[in-house]
Amino acid sequence: DMMREVLGLKELEKKIKNRLQLRDVIVVAGDSDQSPWVKKEMGRACVARIKELLEGNTIVAVTGGTTLAAVAEMMTPDSKYRDVLFVPARGGLGEDVKNQANTICARMAEKAMGRYRLLHVPDQLSHETYQSIIEEPAIKEVLDLIKASSIVIHGIGDAKTMAERRKTAPEEMEKIEKNRAVAEAFGYYFDQEGKVVHKVNTVGIQLEDVQKVKHVIAVAGGASKAKAIKAYMKQAHHSVLITDEGAAKELIRD
Ligand code: G3H
Repeated sequence: DMMREVLGLKELEKKIKNRLQLRDVIVVAGDSDQSPWVKKEMGRACVARIKELLEGNTIVAVTGGTTLAAVAEMMTPDSKYRDVLFVPARGGLGEDVKNQANTICARMAEKAMGRYRLLHVPDQLSHETYQSIIEEPAIKEVLDLIKASSIVIHGIGDAKTMAERRKTAPEEMEKIEKNRAVAEAFGYYFDQEGKVVHKVNTVGIQLEDVQKVKHVIAVAGGASKAKAIKAYMKQAHHSVLITDEGAAKELIRD
């Protein structure tokens, strides 16, 4: 902690917390755009925070992405996880398997030696199929568990980067660009005021639900994500932000 003081990380945390009006902010050293291990440092910080928040039968919902994959990698077993259930926050968003919430959820639970449930729902659903699938007992059971989560851990992405990575259809791409989306989180796209301009239709946690979850932790770093973080956080004041110095320095720039 002495080291973090010397590095000025605590000062950065205080400034960002005040400026973005957040519940709490953790800044790790480095810039994950430059050094891949910085993502793991954010992961380590996230794991430590999760452990502090656990109380009895906690349900932890996680999203996908490379940052959340790093959180999963840094997870360590603890007797506290015996009564913890990990679930994916939402259904598929068009990501590669390694970046999917299901994959990360299972990995995290295995590393924690906790339990998990997965959502077996295809990514692209017609309205009719969607309506019937959420009534399937096995699916409904998992969806109810997801809605009962008291901790949500998610990443934040740059809108364009995420839309491209997920091979978004041209007409959706156009909508995202036309409405000047700058941020993405759990399949929602936000403009620079933090207003939703597009959402991917899938089951699981919706934005209205996230706003009611007791503990929400956003993990996102790298100078290239500063704009996205700033935009997303405009509508997420009750969240904890775990970021890196690279993003943090941009966040306090005027
Ligand atoms: O769901 C994906 C996140 O919004 C960002 O993904 O951690 O790979 O940058 P990432």
